[in-house]
Amino acid sequence: MSHIRKAVFPVAGMGTRFLPATKSIPKEMLPLVDRPLIQYAVDEAREAGIEEFIFVTAAGKGALEDYFDTAAALEQRLEQSGKKDALNALERTRMPEGALSFVRQNNPLGLGHAVRLAQKLVGDEAFAVILPDDVIRAPRGALSQMVDAHASYRGHMVASMDVTLAQTASYGVLDVEAENGRIAHARGMVEKPRPDLAPSTRAVIGRYILEPSIFEQLANLGPGAGGELQLTDAINADVKKAGVTGYRFEGERFDCGSILGFVQATAAFALDRPELEGELRTFLRERTAPLRMVA
Ligand code: G1P
Repeated sequence: MSHIRKAVFPVAGMGTRFLPATKSIPKEMLPLVDRPLIQYAVDEAREAGIEEFIFVTAAGKGALEDYFDTAAALEQRLEQSGKKDALNALERTRMPEGALSFVRQNNPLGLGHAVRLAQKLVGDEAFAVILPDDVIRAPRGALSQMVDAHASYRGHMVASMDVTLAQTASYGVLDVEAENGRIAHARGMVEKPRPDLAPSTRAVIGRYILEPSIFEQLANLGPGAGGELQLTDAINADVKKAGVTGYRFEGERFDCGSILGFVQATAAFALDRPELEGELRTFLRERTAPLRMVA
């Protein structure tokens, strides 16, 4: 059994980059192939042994609740018409009763604020945070890899990957003290630094395992980068007490908070599907072949 039982999913963001699509559906419901983003996050959490799923939501996110609910009428109809495959496809959306909770973020004050709102539901134990925008394609779920490492290292742990110096301005960045394989022991971290001030090029990706002491820091947090309450700042303030490590996960991360990243993820996951791969490959090859000039 995993020592990390609960995961927080901050899903209150407005998804303005995906308007107009997100005018009437949450961005976490946008599908990569045929599965909404949130499904990838929940599947990864389940694989890591998570049993309780805490969604920090906002107005207009009702579709997320319905998605993980049973759909009795639909299931009955599929059963009656013998549509086994369609019925099986719903299997992933089933959650044990009571496994899912929702807490509402009324003001979009930042990621630190969203995580703080989960305090009552998390209680006094280490827990995971998953940002569904960061989709990680990996032979073994990134959170699962981290849970294993966390069992040895404890303290706060963040997923990390190398980026270019210019890209550091878009991420939390680790101040690395020492490295040991996939683990980077850090002195701290900075949220979205100016590249010339970045302490390293080791960026934080949206998977965290946090000790409950984070809530004390979140309670006292003032606005940070972009005027928001930053989770990065709370972790940083707790480093002396709890420590922080970066875990360089095995896998490929897609930034599904951006349109380009989303399209790339769609292609990558579609190419993973045997029933789509062959024809998609041909299509992409033909589309991307250098144009031949006709005389
Ligand atoms: C958030 C975090 C940042 C992290 C990033 C990963 O930023 O604040 O530290 O590097 O997620 O995707 P956001 O992209 O939500 O601005």
